[in-house]
Amino acid sequence: MRIVSLSMLKPDMILAKPIYHNDLLILRKGLTNLNRFVESLRRLGIEYVYVEDVKSEDIEIPDAISEETRISCKRILRKTMDAFENNAVVELGDMMGTINDLIEEILAKPDIQISLNDISAADEYTFSHSVSSTVYSLLIAKQLNYTKSMMEKLAVGALLHDMGKVFLDKRIMNKIEPLTAEEFDYIKTHTTLGYEALKKCPNITELSRIISLYHHERMDGSGYPSGTPAGQLHDFVRIVAIADVYDALTENRCYRRKWSTNQAVNYLIENAESKFDLNMVSVFIKQIAIYPNGSMVRLSNNATGIVKEQNKNYPLRPVIRVITDEKGNDIDVYDLDLMKELSITIIESELEMNCGF
Ligand SMILES: [Fe+2]
Repeated sequence: MRIVSLSMLKPDMILAKPIYHNDLLILRKGLTNLNRFVESLRRLGIEYVYVEDVKSEDIEIPDAISEETRISCKRILRKTMDAFENNAVVELGDMMGTINDLIEEILAKPDIQISLNDISAADEYTFSHSVSSTVYSLLIAKQLNYTKSMMEKLAVGALLHDMGKVFLDKRIMNKIEPLTAEEFDYIKTHTTLGYEALKKCPNITELSRIISLYHHERMDGSGYPSGTPAGQLHDFVRIVAIADVYDALTENRCYRRKWSTNQAVNYLIENAESKFDLNMVSVFIKQIAIYPNGSMVRLSNNATGIVKEQNKNYPLRPVIRVITDEKGNDIDVYDLDLMKELSITIIESELEMNCGF
């Protein structure tokens, strides 16, 4: 399997993962002649698809969670947020069931490398963002050997961390132009609004609620709503702060292009200790594939290839399935382990070329 941008689609490629939009299946796995869908996919904000072709058929792309689980999480979150917005009774039973499935799935997988986030994230940003932030938070918690009951509380808080936004004016939330100082102050209130609303749910523990209140606080006291110092920031808050920022940076927003994995990881490293918890940042970034499996890269000898597998602890030196020579001619493919060929490096990634900074 490989990931290709829509402009790189070729007739021999077969859709390897179904494509959903607003939780609805729009293209099923196994479809061929994908070029006919390019314009519709672009209109929906989808830029990449997972495909199968002869050159990549044995390449595996690990997934933190299945598409089905991701969709059930978004669905249940939408239902819960609607209930909050309409002041209706918020039932947590279904949500807890879905969260348990999510935790089971994450615990059952071997150590995975985070590759790409939700490719259909252009649909409803708040839902996709909340689910991805929850998955990242749980991956950190797994590495920190959290109990299942702690993971549950963390997941409830992470999933609902931005729920205060349902009370805000959508025109300001989706504004493309830079926010005025007043508008930014207004958006900051989603933290306190969310916390107050969650207080009305007796089934949600205070540990889960504080995530909505404090997820924009920073270790150096520079965050909001109140500039709480690091000593008062619970580990849950520190975890979700990292997951929230990483996902926000690596998704397209109405006002800016997404950052590449590399840029987002560098941002976390540069701000580890001052803004984020240093230990949690290092736990998190060890799980991120800078060059995800299945992505196209150009090497320093000008050959191009597909990332085949990761070398643990050496994210910049994966194994590459080389598919063209230095002149761009197709060749008989071969695998090149960049840990064994130290003179060759990756100089360009197709995924990064499509990012803005
Ligand atoms: Fe937020």
